[in-house]
Amino acid sequence: MISSKRKVRSTPSQTFLSKTFHWINIISLMLMITSGLQIYNANPVFGGREGWHFPDFILLGGWLGGGRHWHFAAMWLFSLNLLWYGLYIFVTRRWQRRFADGGDLKALQVSQNPKRKNYAWHRLVYTAIIPVLLLAILSGLAMYKPAQLHWLSGLFGSWQTLRTVHFITVPTVILFTIAHSLLALKVGSIRLVKSMFL
Ligand code: HEM
Repeated sequence: MISSKRKVRSTPSQTFLSKTFHWINIISLMLMITSGLQIYNANPVFGGREGWHFPDFILLGGWLGGGRHWHFAAMWLFSLNLLWYGLYIFVTRRWQRRFADGGDLKALQVSQNPKRKNYAWHRLVYTAIIPVLLLAILSGLAMYKPAQLHWLSGLFGSWQTLRTVHFITVPTVILFTIAHSLLALKVGSIRLVKSMFL
Protein backbone atom coordinates (compact mmCIF):
# COMPACT_ATOMS: atom_id res chain seq x y z
CA MET A 1 0.00 0.00 0.00
CA ILE A 2 2.72 2.43 1.03
CA SER A 3 4.89 1.60 -1.96
CA SER A 4 2.00 2.12 -4.43
CA LYS A 5 1.29 5.50 -2.81
CA ARG A 6 4.95 6.45 -3.23
CA LYS A 7 4.81 5.46 -6.88
CA VAL A 8 1.80 7.71 -7.50
CA ARG A 9 3.47 10.66 -5.78
CA SER A 10 6.75 10.35 -7.66
CA THR A 11 5.10 10.48 -11.11
CA PRO A 12 5.80 14.02 -12.31
CA SER A 13 2.88 15.96 -13.76
CA GLN A 14 2.47 19.49 -15.12
CA THR A 15 -0.58 21.68 -15.40
CA PHE A 16 -2.20 22.14 -18.81
CA LEU A 17 -1.30 25.85 -18.75
CA SER A 18 2.38 25.15 -18.02
CA LYS A 19 2.56 22.66 -20.89
CA THR A 20 0.83 25.09 -23.25
CA PHE A 21 3.26 27.85 -22.29
CA HIS A 22 6.23 25.52 -22.77
CA TRP A 23 5.11 24.36 -26.23
CA ILE A 24 4.36 27.89 -27.47
CA ASN A 25 7.65 29.13 -26.02
CA ILE A 26 9.66 26.52 -27.95
CA ILE A 27 7.78 27.04 -31.23
CA SER A 28 7.85 30.85 -31.06
CA LEU A 29 11.57 30.86 -30.11
CA MET A 30 12.35 28.69 -33.13
CA LEU A 31 10.44 31.16 -35.33
CA MET A 32 12.27 34.11 -33.72
CA ILE A 33 15.72 32.52 -34.13
CA THR A 34 15.31 31.32 -37.73
CA SER A 35 13.73 34.59 -38.93
CA GLY A 36 16.27 36.61 -36.88
CA LEU A 37 19.16 34.82 -38.56
CA GLN A 38 17.54 35.57 -41.95
CA ILE A 39 17.64 39.27 -41.03
CA TYR A 40 21.23 38.88 -39.82
CA ASN A 41 22.29 37.37 -43.15
CA ALA A 42 21.30 40.53 -45.06
CA ASN A 43 24.02 42.41 -43.18
CA PRO A 44 25.96 40.24 -40.68
CA VAL A 45 26.45 41.81 -37.26
CA PHE A 46 30.13 40.87 -37.35
CA GLY A 47 32.06 41.81 -40.49
CA GLY A 48 29.21 43.51 -42.42
CA ARG A 49 28.09 42.24 -45.88
CA GLU A 50 31.38 40.34 -46.27
CA GLY A 51 30.95 38.67 -42.87
CA TRP A 52 30.05 35.04 -42.17
CA HIS A 53 26.54 33.99 -43.30
CA PHE A 54 24.24 31.32 -41.87
CA PRO A 55 23.23 28.47 -44.23
CA ASP A 56 19.80 28.74 -45.93
CA PHE A 57 18.32 25.59 -44.38
CA ILE A 58 18.14 27.15 -40.89
CA LEU A 59 16.58 30.42 -42.11
CA LEU A 60 12.95 31.48 -42.27
CA GLY A 61 11.45 34.01 -44.67
CA GLY A 62 13.44 33.55 -47.88
CA TRP A 63 14.87 37.10 -47.92
CA LEU A 64 15.30 40.14 -45.66
CA GLY A 65 11.69 41.37 -46.04
CA GLY A 66 10.25 37.87 -45.48
CA GLY A 67 12.46 37.36 -42.42
CA ARG A 68 11.32 40.69 -40.97
CA HIS A 69 7.65 39.83 -41.52
CA TRP A 70 8.07 36.50 -39.71
CA HIS A 71 10.14 38.08 -36.93
CA PHE A 72 7.64 40.85 -36.22
CA ALA A 73 4.63 38.52 -36.42
CA ALA A 74 6.18 35.87 -34.13
CA MET A 75 7.29 38.52 -31.61
CA TRP A 76 3.63 38.89 -30.55
CA LEU A 77 3.28 35.16 -29.97
CA PHE A 78 6.60 34.99 -28.12
CA SER A 79 6.17 38.04 -25.88
CA LEU A 80 2.43 37.65 -25.14
CA ASN A 81 3.08 34.00 -24.23
CA LEU A 82 5.79 35.07 -21.78
CA LEU A 83 3.50 37.78 -20.41
CA TRP A 84 0.55 35.50 -19.71
CA TYR A 85 2.84 32.88 -18.17
CA GLY A 86 4.24 35.60 -15.90
CA LEU A 87 0.69 36.58 -14.88
CA TYR A 88 -0.26 32.91 -14.38
CA ILE A 89 2.62 32.11 -12.02
CA PHE A 90 2.12 35.43 -10.23
CA VAL A 91 -1.62 34.98 -9.65
CA THR A 92 -1.29 31.31 -8.63
CA ARG A 93 1.81 32.18 -6.53
CA ARG A 94 3.75 29.45 -8.30
CA TRP A 95 6.74 31.81 -8.64
CA GLN A 96 7.41 31.35 -4.92
CA ARG A 97 8.52 27.73 -5.36
CA ARG A 98 9.15 27.58 -9.11
CA PHE A 99 12.40 29.53 -9.29
CA ALA A 100 15.85 29.22 -7.71
CA ASP A 101 16.20 30.71 -4.24
CA GLY A 102 18.77 31.11 -1.45
CA GLY A 103 18.38 27.43 -0.54
CA ASP A 104 19.59 26.40 -4.00
CA LEU A 105 22.61 28.71 -3.82
CA LYS A 106 23.46 27.32 -0.39
CA ALA A 107 23.07 23.74 -1.61
CA LEU A 108 25.56 24.43 -4.40
CA GLN A 109 28.11 25.60 -1.84
CA VAL A 110 27.68 23.21 1.08
CA SER A 111 25.53 20.22 0.12
CA GLN A 112 27.24 16.83 -0.04
CA ASN A 113 24.26 15.34 -1.84
CA PRO A 114 24.85 15.25 -5.62
CA LYS A 115 21.09 14.93 -6.29
CA ARG A 116 20.38 18.12 -4.37
CA LYS A 117 23.17 19.88 -6.26
CA ASN A 118 21.78 18.82 -9.65
CA TYR A 119 18.36 20.01 -8.60
CA ALA A 120 19.81 23.37 -7.58
CA TRP A 121 21.61 23.70 -10.96
CA HIS A 122 18.40 22.78 -12.77
CA ARG A 123 16.43 25.50 -11.01
CA LEU A 124 19.24 28.02 -11.38
CA VAL A 125 19.53 27.46 -15.15
CA TYR A 126 15.85 27.81 -15.94
CA THR A 127 15.57 30.84 -13.67
CA ALA A 128 18.58 32.53 -15.31
CA ILE A 129 17.03 32.30 -18.78
CA ILE A 130 14.15 34.63 -17.85
CA PRO A 131 16.39 37.76 -17.84
CA VAL A 132 17.95 36.58 -21.13
CA LEU A 133 14.50 36.35 -22.77
CA LEU A 134 13.58 39.76 -21.37
CA LEU A 135 16.84 41.17 -22.75
CA ALA A 136 15.95 39.73 -26.19
CA ILE A 137 12.58 41.51 -26.00
CA LEU A 138 13.97 44.83 -24.73
CA SER A 139 16.88 44.99 -27.21
CA GLY A 140 14.47 43.88 -29.98
CA LEU A 141 12.00 46.63 -29.08
CA ALA A 142 14.85 49.15 -28.97
CA MET A 143 15.67 48.29 -32.62
CA TYR A 144 12.03 47.99 -33.67
CA LYS A 145 10.96 51.46 -32.49
CA PRO A 146 14.20 53.45 -32.07
CA ALA A 147 12.45 56.83 -32.44
CA GLN A 148 9.62 56.20 -29.96
CA LEU A 149 11.86 54.20 -27.56
CA HIS A 150 15.02 56.34 -27.96
CA TRP A 151 15.62 56.23 -24.17
CA LEU A 152 15.74 52.42 -24.37
CA SER A 153 17.96 52.32 -27.48
CA GLY A 154 20.21 54.93 -25.78
CA LEU A 155 20.86 52.58 -22.85
CA PHE A 156 22.81 50.29 -25.20
CA GLY A 157 25.25 53.03 -26.26
CA SER A 158 25.70 52.45 -29.99
CA TRP A 159 23.57 50.73 -32.65
CA GLN A 160 26.32 48.11 -33.14
CA THR A 161 26.27 47.28 -29.39
CA LEU A 162 22.49 47.02 -29.51
CA ARG A 163 22.63 44.62 -32.48
CA THR A 164 25.39 42.59 -30.80
CA VAL A 165 23.46 42.27 -27.52
CA HIS A 166 20.29 41.22 -29.40
CA PHE A 167 22.24 38.70 -31.47
CA ILE A 168 24.08 37.20 -28.48
CA THR A 169 20.73 36.22 -26.95
CA VAL A 170 20.57 33.52 -29.68
CA PRO A 171 23.62 31.40 -28.67
CA THR A 172 22.71 32.04 -25.01
CA VAL A 173 19.19 30.67 -25.51
CA ILE A 174 20.55 27.66 -27.44
CA LEU A 175 23.15 26.85 -24.76
CA PHE A 176 20.50 27.25 -22.10
CA THR A 177 18.16 24.86 -23.90
CA ILE A 178 20.87 22.19 -24.06
CA ALA A 179 21.78 22.61 -20.36
CA HIS A 180 18.11 22.74 -19.37
CA SER A 181 17.31 19.50 -21.24
CA LEU A 182 20.33 17.63 -19.83
CA LEU A 183 19.63 18.77 -16.27
CA ALA A 184 15.93 17.88 -16.58
CA LEU A 185 16.99 14.37 -17.64
CA LYS A 186 19.45 14.14 -14.76
CA VAL A 187 17.02 15.42 -12.14
CA GLY A 188 13.83 13.65 -13.20
CA SER A 189 14.83 11.23 -16.00
CA ILE A 190 12.82 10.90 -19.21
CA ARG A 191 9.61 10.81 -17.16
CA LEU A 192 10.05 14.45 -16.14
CA VAL A 193 10.80 15.47 -19.74
CA LYS A 194 7.73 13.58 -21.01
CA SER A 195 5.51 15.17 -18.36
CA MET A 196 6.21 18.60 -19.89
CA PHE A 197 5.40 17.54 -23.46
CA LEU A 198 2.57 14.97 -23.27
C1 HEM B 1 9.99 39.65 -28.94
C2 HEM B 1 10.76 40.67 -29.05
C3 HEM B 1 11.66 40.92 -30.22
C4 HEM B 1 11.64 42.02 -31.02
C5 HEM B 1 10.71 43.22 -30.87
C6 HEM B 1 12.70 41.86 -32.01
C7 HEM B 1 13.01 42.79 -32.97
C8 HEM B 1 14.06 42.72 -33.85
C9 HEM B 1 14.47 43.75 -34.78
C10 HEM B 1 13.80 45.10 -34.93
C11 HEM B 1 15.52 43.29 -35.47
C12 HEM B 1 16.29 44.04 -36.57
C13 HEM B 1 15.47 43.96 -37.80
C14 HEM B 1 16.08 44.73 -38.92
O1 HEM B 1 17.14 45.31 -38.78
O2 HEM B 1 15.44 44.73 -39.96
C15 HEM B 1 15.82 41.97 -34.98
C16 HEM B 1 16.86 41.19 -35.43
C17 HEM B 1 17.18 39.94 -34.90
N1 HEM B 1 16.50 39.26 -33.91
FE1 HEM B 1 14.92 39.97 -32.85
N2 HEM B 1 13.33 40.67 -31.80
C18 HEM B 1 12.73 40.06 -30.71
C19 HEM B 1 13.07 38.84 -30.16
C20 HEM B 1 14.08 38.01 -30.62
C21 HEM B 1 14.42 36.73 -30.06
C22 HEM B 1 13.71 36.07 -28.88
C23 HEM B 1 15.44 36.24 -30.78
C24 HEM B 1 16.18 34.94 -30.57
C25 HEM B 1 16.56 34.54 -29.37
C26 HEM B 1 15.79 37.21 -31.80
C27 HEM B 1 16.79 37.09 -32.73
C28 HEM B 1 17.15 38.06 -33.66
C29 HEM B 1 18.30 37.98 -34.53
C30 HEM B 1 19.30 36.81 -34.63
C31 HEM B 1 18.32 39.15 -35.31
C32 HEM B 1 19.35 39.54 -36.35
C33 HEM B 1 20.37 40.42 -35.63
C34 HEM B 1 20.85 41.51 -36.54
O3 HEM B 1 21.28 41.20 -37.63
O4 HEM B 1 20.79 42.69 -36.13
N3 HEM B 1 14.94 38.28 -31.68
N4 HEM B 1 14.93 41.65 -33.99
